[in-house]
Amino acid sequence: MRVEIDQISKSYRIPDAEPLRVVEGLSATIEEGEFVCIIGPSGCGKSTLLGMLGGLHPPDSGAVRFSGRRTASGEMTSIVWQDYALIPWRSIVDNVAIALELRGVPKRERRDIAMEHLKTMGIEAFAKSRPQQLSGGMRQRAGIARALASDPEVLLMDEPFAAVDAQTRTLLQEELLSVWERHQKTVLFITHGIEEALLLADRVLVLSGRPTRVVEDLTVPFARPRTADVVQDPRFAELKTHLWERLRDATLAAEWAEAKEVSA
Ligand SMILES: Nc1ncnc2c1ncn2[C@@H]1O[C@H](COP(=O)(O)OP(=O)(O)OP(=O)(O)O)[C@@H](O)[C@H]1O
Ligand SMILES: [Mg+2]
Repeated sequence: MRVEIDQISKSYRIPDAEPLRVVEGLSATIEEGEFVCIIGPSGCGKSTLLGMLGGLHPPDSGAVRFSGRRTASGEMTSIVWQDYALIPWRSIVDNVAIALELRGVPKRERRDIAMEHLKTMGIEAFAKSRPQQLSGGMRQRAGIARALASDPEVLLMDEPFAAVDAQTRTLLQEELLSVWERHQKTVLFITHGIEEALLLADRVLVLSGRPTRVVEDLTVPFARPRTADVVQDPRFAELKTHLWERLRDATLAAEWAEAKEVSA
């Protein structure tokens, strides 16, 4: 499903202060089945943008359309969070089945679907465990299984691998790529990792500081299917330097604007 972000803006009301303009006039299109990574300075509004796409909060103005339709985004999307957001007192299988339960899918059926996705993520042996009995990497596998279980058109991922160690991250990245290649979902993936973006994405969008907008739309040239070996491609180092420079410029500009605000 194609995601069309049309001139969306969002401010937060701050008591006794000017509203915080986070996103302003941001437009982008993500094609059906495309894997797009988003990088940008810390605090620029990446999670706010994802929340608008996921239907958690509406934009103040502008529109998000899914293949031309202006539907409730929550029905089209699932979000994978950095901190897993699993319910501690539920078993893993019941966590994964939660969206199906809310939709009224009968218990037997929703457990079968949940088990299938736990198998895809290689953690079916932990179906009856509680989240706290699992490692960070396993919990995030459960987070991805939960997102897939509701069969969303669009998968929204907010720094999903930021909290796991480097080896686990590499494994999860490769697993995510193989799941994506099989299911062909449209994916929007926020990361602070330039290398991660170049490994995963068809396109990388670089965002500016607040109010945020797209300052670069880079097409990643590496062939699919990809593995972590892509780092050995000489173009990888070039693109990494290029993206790092864009990100550094955006971050410095954001810090400069903030310093000006504080001193004003
Ligand atoms: N509910 C809210 N009310 C007020 N301000 C908010 C709210 N949520 C976020 N903000 C502010 O909006 C700005 C953007 O936040 P957001 O979490 O979208 O940024 P981000 O790019 O995801 O940051 P990070 O890189 O740290 O994940 C920040 O300055 C944040 O403090
Ligand atoms: Mg964030």
